Formats: sequence, C-alpha cells, structure tokens
Amino acid sequence: HKILVLNGPNLNLLGTRQPEVYGNETLAMLEKRCIDHGTALRLSVECEQTNHEGALLDALHGARGVYAGIILNAGAYTHTSVALMDAIYSIELPTVEVHLSNIHAREEFRHRSYISRAAIGQICGFGTQGYLMALDALKTHLTKDDA
Ligand code: DQA
Repeated sequence: HKILVLNGPNLNLLGTRQPEVYGNETLAMLEKRCIDHGTALRLSVECEQTNHEGALLDALHGARGVYAGIILNAGAYTHTSVALMDAIYSIELPTVEVHLSNIHAREEFRHRSYISRAAIGQICGFGTQGYLMALDALKTHLTKDDA
C-alpha cells in the first residue's frame, strides 16, 4: 500500500517554529521517520508539504487512485477549511488527521476541526510520534479491508 503524508502551512518551519509547542525535530527528520516506519509496516510512504490551501486540495484530488490512505496535518487550515473537509469526503480515501500539539488543550479556536468530520480518526498531542501512530492505524485499517 502507498500512503501520502501531507503537511500543510508552516510545517516546513518545524524544528525552529515554537519548539516549546512543536518540538525540535525538522520536517525532513519527521518525513524520514515516517518513511522508515512505513517500510517496517510494509507501507510505501511519500511525503508532501505545502503552505497553500489550493495545493493541499490538488494533492488530495491527485491522491485518489494512487494512494491507499492519507495522513494529514492541515495546520491552521484544520480550523477553517470546509474545502479541505469536502475534498476528503470526495476522494474516499481513509484519512487520519494528525496534530503535533494537543489542540484540545490550546486556544478555543483550535478545538474545532473540519478535518475530523471526514477523517477516520484524529491523533493529537504526541508530537512527531503521532504520525507513526497514524501509520499504525492506517495499516490496521487497510489490513481489515484486505481480509
Ligand atoms: C497543528 C495545530 C494547529 O492548530 C496549528 O495551526 C498548526 C499545527 C499541530 O500540528 O499541532 O499549524 O496542526
């Protein structure tokens, strides 16, 4: 199975961006960990990051028929983008929502996620490990489909 790990706005700044909230690991380190963990699970992981909402939509549309599942950290668009929610509904690919921080313990405006409505589940608060947990979850989900 091929999995797309899609990171949205400001996540290119990981490692230097508010390290007290988001940790010291860079996006490149995070992506490598995802690829390696995928290999261990026999999942082929590809990673993309963009700061643009439309580019996230295009990446999701392009994933249909190419990937078996999506791991999405939509950054701040999580809390604002009906368009991203609609795209996830449209492509009919199992999508796991990930956030490094525990969005429910932060400002009120981060508590609402449009992504959650369309995702199979949400993992937040575990830093970069959350992405690996999301890969485990997708593996289980996809294995169920194969059975
Ligand atoms: C985030 C949480 C969002 O509220 C924030 O806008 C981000 C990162 C996270 O990974 O914790 O950019 O998605």
